[in-house]
Amino acid sequence: MAFDEKKFNEILDEFKVDDERLREIAASFRQDLILGLKDPEQSSMRMLKSYVGLPTGKETGEFLALDFGGTNVRVSKIKLAGAGRFEVLKRTGKPLIVPGEYDYICKDSTAEQMFDFIAGLIEEAVDGDRETTFYLGHTFSFPSEQTDLYNAKLIIWTKEFATPGVEGKVVNDLLKEALERRGMKNVKPVAVINDTVAVLLSAAYQHDETYIGSIYATGHNTCYIEPSVHDEKCVGRGGMILNLESGGFMKLAPNKYDSEYDKHSEKVGEQRLEKMVSGRYMGELFSMTLAELLNETGKHYGFTSVDMSGIIGDGIDDLSKAKAIVKEKTGHELDDSDLEKVRRLASAIVIRSARLVAACFIGIIWQRAGKEKVKPQHIAVDGSVYEKMPLAKENIEKALLTVFEEDATGIRTILDNGGSGLGAAIAAAMAVN
Ligand code: GLC
Repeated sequence: MAFDEKKFNEILDEFKVDDERLREIAASFRQDLILGLKDPEQSSMRMLKSYVGLPTGKETGEFLALDFGGTNVRVSKIKLAGAGRFEVLKRTGKPLIVPGEYDYICKDSTAEQMFDFIAGLIEEAVDGDRETTFYLGHTFSFPSEQTDLYNAKLIIWTKEFATPGVEGKVVNDLLKEALERRGMKNVKPVAVINDTVAVLLSAAYQHDETYIGSIYATGHNTCYIEPSVHDEKCVGRGGMILNLESGGFMKLAPNKYDSEYDKHSEKVGEQRLEKMVSGRYMGELFSMTLAELLNETGKHYGFTSVDMSGIIGDGIDDLSKAKAIVKEKTGHELDDSDLEKVRRLASAIVIRSARLVAACFIGIIWQRAGKEKVKPQHIAVDGSVYEKMPLAKENIEKALLTVFEEDATGIRTILDNGGSGLGAAIAAAMAVN
């Protein structure tokens, strides 16, 4: 079949963010940030306090790090050696869902089952040791309201998690209870942080001039260190890190696919930016647009962002991989001209995503700089989309260059792989030292 050219171009247009739009979105993001600094109720972002500032880089000791934020839960034992150095002594991990075997993130599971499973992983990480005291830092990557570094209540599940009995609860209490049920009172949760905060702590532990931390993966969110926010319960330097929950930013216009997807999602009306940019959703948007081109509107092919990355490939002309993926998911065998369009479609969705993510960074950089010249800095990013999706990183950088021109050479996004674990260990060290 040959795709309808007009329809194809209309779809591409829906995903276009030109330079002017990029600047407008960045300005609107900054505006929302300013509103939230005065009163979080006024912002579409939650702007959550983390009760932690930047580390000194001198934090030392051995800590457990629990990284709970996506379908894979990881526990590591990490030795911080100071001067930005560290060593991972042990690492374990398991998915919270294995289709056909178990599923701790669905409506039918319970909070106890979920946290008992996690306590089991912690037991593995300490080789069943029930004597030694271990302080644990917990990276819990969902919007949580904190009153100090230990105490974080889950406000609402995101990323399509649906386990009952966790929303509204202090997650470290649920974890502590599960550890107690397992006879592991020697493991003491002392800090809970968002994954964006973890990435920022981890990057700032190792590099100077890092003020922004971001996750670009299943979910998307950004935090930054805000010098004007202080609290006596906050540990660390430079003010307080604010977890923006920027995935909730909604002062930007969704297209018809975004709106349609949102209507059928777990949390309708929530996480509008996240649903436009993150790995959990890009495949769904791609499915919807392709279904339209294949005259099968409404059909769910189940494309994932990994499929999209296979379809986009490395830019060389060979379309055989794209052909196989499309055939497997849709049943259609497309010719090269249509496959080329499929690739452009997937690319357009990724490029929009990267430009929207960049707009958030630009808004924060503007805000931090105020009237001063923008400083050279690192933006620490972790996540599979940033790391592996073709076109993502390069389009973030291109957008930064468009807006900051020659200043952009001093602004670098850096991959902070594994930052969620390291950051948790650093937060635990900051809590107990
Ligand atoms: C979702 C969560 C947020 C997290 C992000 C990345 O947006 O709400 O807390 O940081 O995913 O994992």
